Amino acid sequence: MVGREREDHAGGAAFGVGVVGCGYWGLNYIRVLSELASVETVVACDEDPVRLKAVAERFRHAELASELDELLESDEIDAVAVCTPATTHYEIATRCLEAGKHVLIEKPITTRAEDAETLVVLAEQLDLTLAVGHTFLYNAGIQKVKSYLDNGDLGSLYYMYSRRTNLGPIRHDVNALWDLAPHDVSIFNYLLNAPPSWVSAVGRTVLRDTNEDFGFVSIGYESGVVAHIHVSWADPNKVREVVVVGSEQRIVFDDIKTSEQVRVYEKGVTPAASEVSSYAEFRFSIRDGDIISPKVEVSEPLKNQCRDFLESIASGTLPVSDGRAGLEVVRVMEAIDQSIARNGVPVAVGSSPLTRSKAS
Ligand SMILES: NC(=O)c1ccc[n+]([C@@H]2O[C@H](COP(=O)([O-])OP(=O)(O)OC[C@H]3O[C@@H](n4cnc5c(N)ncnc54)[C@H](O)[C@@H]3O)[C@@H](O)[C@H]2O)c1
Repeated sequence: MVGREREDHAGGAAFGVGVVGCGYWGLNYIRVLSELASVETVVACDEDPVRLKAVAERFRHAELASELDELLESDEIDAVAVCTPATTHYEIATRCLEAGKHVLIEKPITTRAEDAETLVVLAEQLDLTLAVGHTFLYNAGIQKVKSYLDNGDLGSLYYMYSRRTNLGPIRHDVNALWDLAPHDVSIFNYLLNAPPSWVSAVGRTVLRDTNEDFGFVSIGYESGVVAHIHVSWADPNKVREVVVVGSEQRIVFDDIKTSEQVRVYEKGVTPAASEVSSYAEFRFSIRDGDIISPKVEVSEPLKNQCRDFLESIASGTLPVSDGRAGLEVVRVMEAIDQSIARNGVPVAVGSSPLTRSKAS
């Protein structure tokens, strides 16, 4: 394995990790990595001296670098977390991999599927770990929803939808769909263990005339399941919700709630007998049941994600959110772009030998 992992007191690997991009999200990485026992050194890198000053004020012992090359040339650094704007991910990650560093790239992995493919191949050729910051795959609430699906508790799966709306924060390099929908696409692919076959999407620019500020996306999977995503950074109501509806149960994940983040509705509709002759008979086909709020272990998704990344480096196994998962999301995002340009016409999601089988 390329890279140099040191031994810590407990006998496990002790890592030096660089964080490139110390803006809103990069600061969380610096905090989380500094708290992990397996991390010996965290070096914060940003091209903006104001951001580095902010890091120094908040993390008094943080090591700072104003150039990416300082991280890449350092023997102390085994891995790099890339937390810069999406359009810069490909170039920075390529340089990190070529310098022999394991890489965790924030979502979306890149803004072109071709570039994501190049990164996946490069990491595999160099025997380096490539992970993507699809944080919700490490969210205990989403993992709970998946456990219900995997156990077959929902019965037959009808459909899923998500809403991710708020007033801002508005990005300048990508539109609201590329900023927000990768979360939902990664969640749906994770829940179904497969990428989708087609998308149909509409989006509009309302705040400026450059990037779409909201979008509505329908997604179809080979299994017949359909999903829907509504994203917006022009909506005064902050919503972060995923709903999964099956024949036996309906599950709601609400990321904004501080308690009862997952609710399971044990209600269902059984198809009525072929001849429904009265309202009473029709009502009989609606099955009532309990509403359960299952216990969800409290843990920080970003910390789980960083831990999985470092454990994957140490063990040589794939992280839950690996480069291919990132590539599959970007393929969907490209299809969404094409569908928006054609005002919602369904577009097939591209695949390649690097894409996991849609049927698997
Ligand atoms: N997983 C999540 O829940 C989540 C949440 C927020 C943001 N993100 C992702 O994190 C990434 C960063 O988002 P943000 O909100 O922190 O952005 P931000 O604009 O607040 O910060 C980006 C930082 O990168 C720095 N930077 C840009 N180019 C650089 C370069 N070449 N070298 C060094 N530094 C450079 C900028 O100076 C800035 O400080 C994006 O990809 C975004 O999608 C993920």
